[in-house]
Amino acid sequence: MTGIRLHAPRPGWAVDADVVVIGSGVAGLTVALRCAAAGAKVTVVTKARLDDGSTRWAQGGIAAALGEGDTPEQHLDDTLVAGAGLCSEEAVRTLVTEGPDAVRRLIATGATFDTDADTGEILLTREGGHHRRRIAHAGGDATGAEISRALVQAVRDAGIETVENALVLDLLKDPEGRAAGVSLHVMGEGRHDGVGAVRAKAVVLATGGMGQVFSATTNPAVSTGDGVALALRAGAEVSDLEFVQFHPTVLWLGPDAEGQQPLVSEAVRGEGAHLVDADGHRFMVGAHELAELAPRDIVAKGIMRRMQETGTEHMYLDGRHFGAEMWASRFPTILAACRAHGIDPVTEPIPVAPAAHYASGGVRTDLHGRSTIDGLYACGEVACTGVHGANRLASNSLLEGLVFAERIAADIAATAPGALPHWDARTAAAESPATFLVAPSARLEIQRIMTAGAGVLRSADSLKQAAARLERIDTEVSAQDEPGTEAWETTNLLLVARVLVAAALRREETRGCHWREDRPDRDDSGWGRHLLVTLRPDRTLAVSTTETAAFPPVSPLVTPAAPRRTP
Ligand code: SIN
Repeated sequence: MTGIRLHAPRPGWAVDADVVVIGSGVAGLTVALRCAAAGAKVTVVTKARLDDGSTRWAQGGIAAALGEGDTPEQHLDDTLVAGAGLCSEEAVRTLVTEGPDAVRRLIATGATFDTDADTGEILLTREGGHHRRRIAHAGGDATGAEISRALVQAVRDAGIETVENALVLDLLKDPEGRAAGVSLHVMGEGRHDGVGAVRAKAVVLATGGMGQVFSATTNPAVSTGDGVALALRAGAEVSDLEFVQFHPTVLWLGPDAEGQQPLVSEAVRGEGAHLVDADGHRFMVGAHELAELAPRDIVAKGIMRRMQETGTEHMYLDGRHFGAEMWASRFPTILAACRAHGIDPVTEPIPVAPAAHYASGGVRTDLHGRSTIDGLYACGEVACTGVHGANRLASNSLLEGLVFAERIAADIAATAPGALPHWDARTAAAESPATFLVAPSARLEIQRIMTAGAGVLRSADSLKQAAARLERIDTEVSAQDEPGTEAWETTNLLLVARVLVAAALRREETRGCHWREDRPDRDDSGWGRHLLVTLRPDRTLAVSTTETAAFPPVSPLVTPAAPRRTP
């Protein structure tokens, strides 16, 4: 039973688990490992292959106060500054104090970080907004790939059940309205095929981001906002969706480039590369005390401004002074990506422009990862824990995934009910008051609308136009369209696009990564607070604001009827 569900065939199969985890990045796999270690039967559902999530693409690394002289307090200060007044200090404090040990546990799980050959100490680099070298990396610029490798191996070694190539559709609720599983569609051959259901005592969304809502993004093709859309349809509250982070330095591949674009890590600037215009002028010097290493939103805005001033489509990142050896050893992934596109960073500056990178908002959770629906958790990019505020500090996301995954696993172990309730997952998945579907042909249009109207630069006019065009697509939706992966993904993209635009329109100020050209200043008296959005059964959006910059407590919409026990 859900409030609204996607139009989909009746589930043909059902399996049971204590915990179903949707997603296989650092957040999902860490929850799965910790829950399994506590004795729970865990099923991991992932949209592509186990190692295909966003984590694999992370280059820069994982931020934690591990270095000599660094402290959680300094990490907290940098995070709060980047978050532009909207971080939850409690959530950030949790992140930075629990972070260093969480990284050590990740190392114990098998991840290998780059170390100094003489001392054996972890090598740390700098990125935008960090006043210290604080970013641990692996394989030079292949940190996410190494974390993903280690966690996938650990999940396989632990014998955790995985369902690959499966798109999650909707949340299932038990008769009391508590989250009790998901419906999903397995794309391809395997033990399960077609639409089915997983019944579970706890559901953890770790589905990653929604970068594919824009034309150009650093996110992989799987990042279509499925978790946020599922949560909205189920009645959960989402927050801060207007704060989309545009990474300043994405390899510029031409005005028509669409889909996933190669990232040029902040760490390249952290190691001393310069941002320059076509005349070689370092335009960030003097614009901020940290110049090229200012927080990401400031660098993205600096690049956009210079592009506007010079009438160009990109700027350049100049790291020629690194030399061939450093490029090959420190940034092998970026070097290979640039060369694959005919650019040699050893001999020429890299053309770069901002592209959609990270959703700072998402499904609103408390410090235990609990959403506003009892039994539904969210972790990683899909979640809004309050850690990122209006702008995520570079390399805080892998850490957030790790720290909050462990907290979720602990909460599930302490509170999940002892037995699955008596209800039929297949019937529940098929019964719902309303179903809808958007035609796959709308996907490109949604991405173009979002890029034109709600990209790095926004205004009331551009957002109103985007909202009207998205509403038009929404009124054309039909339950008659053929259900299938592309239609389900497009339906999810449309829903998250509508919420993002509604929130961006409502927030009449410029703050963090939300840049309103018509409201260029930060307005602490009116806008030092969050926007909360839910989806009504008639698919209209209910938007409200918090009283202050602090989130109110997450109150489950449903209280469990029976006391919960350890699984
Ligand atoms: C990067 O390497 O620049 C990306 C790191 C991040 O998004 O945190």
